[in-house]
Amino acid sequence: MLILNKTVRVFSIPSKRKIYEFLGSFTFHPGKLFLHKLVLGIETSCDDTAAAVVDETGNVLGEAIHSQTEVHLKTGGIIPPVAQQLHRENIQRIVQEALSASRVSPSELSAIATTTKPGLALSLGVGLSFSLQLVDQLKKPFIPIHHMEAHALTIRLTNNVEFPFLVLLISGGHCLLALVRGVSDFLLLGKSLDIAPGDMLDKVARRLSLRKHPECSTMSGGKAIEHLAKQGNKLLFDLKPPMHRAKNCDFSFSGLQNVVDKIIKQKEKEEGIEVGQILSSAADIAAAVQHTTACHIAKRTHRAILFCQQRGLLAQTNAVLVASGGVASNLYIRKALEIVTNLTQCILLCPPPRLCTDNGVMIAWNGIERLRAGLGILHDTEGIRYEPKCPLGVDISKEVGEAAIKVP
Ligand code: KG4
Ligand code: ZN
Repeated sequence: MLILNKTVRVFSIPSKRKIYEFLGSFTFHPGKLFLHKLVLGIETSCDDTAAAVVDETGNVLGEAIHSQTEVHLKTGGIIPPVAQQLHRENIQRIVQEALSASRVSPSELSAIATTTKPGLALSLGVGLSFSLQLVDQLKKPFIPIHHMEAHALTIRLTNNVEFPFLVLLISGGHCLLALVRGVSDFLLLGKSLDIAPGDMLDKVARRLSLRKHPECSTMSGGKAIEHLAKQGNKLLFDLKPPMHRAKNCDFSFSGLQNVVDKIIKQKEKEEGIEVGQILSSAADIAAAVQHTTACHIAKRTHRAILFCQQRGLLAQTNAVLVASGGVASNLYIRKALEIVTNLTQCILLCPPPRLCTDNGVMIAWNGIERLRAGLGILHDTEGIRYEPKCPLGVDISKEVGEAAIKVP
């Protein structure tokens, strides 16, 4: 993946004339008075162009999204300049759609919040550039948003969750466990040392040619694995959970992917079929991979809860574990997490699926959280940059590993 480890200067995309035309396309709604703070959120960190208007009480007044998934599926992955071009082509329309749906005129906004870190440099640049021009024209405050912080706080829009709580983010691009202590106060307990679980499931599904499977042709890799796993026997292949000796909360999925690759090659030989044809044992392989992934994720999460409870960072009862991201929609993995939360007397919460994946609502909501807390609101955007790489909070994963907590 093309992510540069440096801060990069933004470059301008839509012309000033275009922004004026854009603003001119809105009409005021006389007689309508917004008493609450209103934030426009803009997200372009990866392959979704998304925007939303959210008010202080968590009402989503309008939202719009353009997903590039179809295009990237054809090329077998995200090509950053292609993603950048698609963001450029869609950002104005998407922001306009979100604002129009909300019936809020741009002048009524309290602030504009935009993802500035982490993510693909070329993608982040489009959102930031567009937002800065809008901020300049409207003379509104700007709130730079950390994409992972926004994912982590989304649950506070849908549920009444107080700080602190634990969050597990598992998707195609994310894999981390963090303790959320405040709007901008995070402790990173562990993360993937290589790829994210969704990335691994997507690669396994591609290797199994599940797109050609009649029941799975329209599903994402992870969803296809979940679907087929229901028909398979998880015990037919002996897959070891990754990192089972390391008593920390880090994750790893590339080793598992390599082992599964070897199994598939072997099976293709045994069944005498070519790469690209569907194995008769595809469902058993899917079941074994899903089971091993669930065990690995559940074990790391269990250790994170025990660590936080032992250190007094989380309550002994009724502490909240939030699971979010595309992979968290997997019901087998959720079941494994439920076993862990029952054992540790915690409560498992998951945002609704549309808020688990990348969206504009979570960015707008993070803007609201920051407005309410008075944190990171900029009235001068001079020198603002996007940051392709930016860790989440304070990394205490070494301390977690040193505690070497045994998980029953
Ligand atoms: O959060 P998301 O929509 O996008 C990003 O990664 O940013 O997550 C997509 C990932 C893909 O890798 C997809 O295969 C996986 O989530 N996924 C699933 C399921 N649905 C989507 N993985 C396991 N089980 C599912 N039901
Ligand atoms: Zn995300």
